[in-house]
Amino acid sequence: MIPFDQSRPQINPRDLVSTGREADLFDLMAHSGYVPDEQVFEDFCESLKSGRAWLISGTRGSGKTAFPEALAAACNLSMCVVAGRDGLKQEEILYDWDSEEQEVWIREHLALAKQLPIEEQAGFLDNARRSKWQRRFLILGEVGMAYDLAAIAASSTPRKPPPVLILDESDKFGASIEDSLLMPLERGLIYIPRYEGGTIGISDWQSRPIVITTSNDLRHKLSSPFISRHVYSRFSSPSLEKELEILSTRNRSATSVQLALTTKLIDAVRGIAGLEDHPSVRESIDIVAAFERDSVESLNPKSLVRYFCYFVKTGSSRELLTLQLDYLLAMINAFHPDIDSWLASRDSNWKLRWPQLSGYSI
Ligand SMILES: Nc1ncnc2c1ncn2[C@@H]1O[C@H](COP(=O)(O)OP(=O)(O)OP(=O)(O)O)[C@@H](O)[C@H]1O
Ligand SMILES: [Mg+2]
Repeated sequence: MIPFDQSRPQINPRDLVSTGREADLFDLMAHSGYVPDEQVFEDFCESLKSGRAWLISGTRGSGKTAFPEALAAACNLSMCVVAGRDGLKQEEILYDWDSEEQEVWIREHLALAKQLPIEEQAGFLDNARRSKWQRRFLILGEVGMAYDLAAIAASSTPRKPPPVLILDESDKFGASIEDSLLMPLERGLIYIPRYEGGTIGISDWQSRPIVITTSNDLRHKLSSPFISRHVYSRFSSPSLEKELEILSTRNRSATSVQLALTTKLIDAVRGIAGLEDHPSVRESIDIVAAFERDSVESLNPKSLVRYFCYFVKTGSSRELLTLQLDYLLAMINAFHPDIDSWLASRDSNWKLRWPQLSGYSI
């Protein structure tokens, strides 16, 4: 669990959307460096209003994990994270009993019982055995902790915002972990056999943790009961304008030339038939950062190949793209209506570079 920063105020995103201030939440996230897609952001607001978990699927590098991270950073919320992997166990994510401490507890009480009159010993030991299932022997996993923190936040005065719970790469969880999450996702509670309190968590939908589940749809197919407990969105590749917005937000000091080189290059690469793995936003952010670091203002065949390592990730793709060098360079240096008009709208000098832009209303 990553706790919120005690020195900064917290913002409850549910309060913002339930009072019609979705735009404020959008701006907060954009300010923290994440530019949400408008459509998926609306879906997220529905999940917030309803209290339901939000399931997002999409290709790698499309910003699935970064979304909840940006939300937690923007609103200063505690963040619990479960990273999907094979062999994940229920007790790692929900709760476990500290059996060593429980044993010590019982041994100590056996020793104490021996000093008591014989008729009091049985009752004393019964009591000690029952107390073995106290809260202090419970070890909470990230999911258990998120539901527990939400309950604590809801009962504090003034009421504090709930934490964010990221169930990342849930397609790697497997059936038994998915099943163990059905109850908390539906009831907001985790039932713990023998525990003196019975449950942890909070059933009130408005106070539950903000659960964001991601999936790459690669490893396992998620079960329908698990999916049905979520509001669903698909993260698709952003439009070029959106990608430019993301790139300029993430690399604030990148020049217009560097933004143009990157997006024209990436757009051309994505258009090449036969390439198995297309570069995502993750790769374009890395390319702009590299251009910025190296103060790149133009590309030639040699320097272009130099940057292949950021977006060409297999031997066959490298061979294919090496054959297309002339095409890529031509595309990088050509006018692109979407890219160049977007750049001209924020950089007045850009319009002077491209006479073609005089026909565009910017
Ligand atoms: N809309 C966006 N605004 C700002 N940054 C973004 C956006 N989308 C993606 N990114 C950035 O792209 C990179 C990849 O994002 P992220 O790791 O969230 O992808 P992912 O969908 O979780 O990928 P994977 O499936 O491989 O885990 C991160 O650096 C992230 O900050
Ligand atoms: Mg991810």
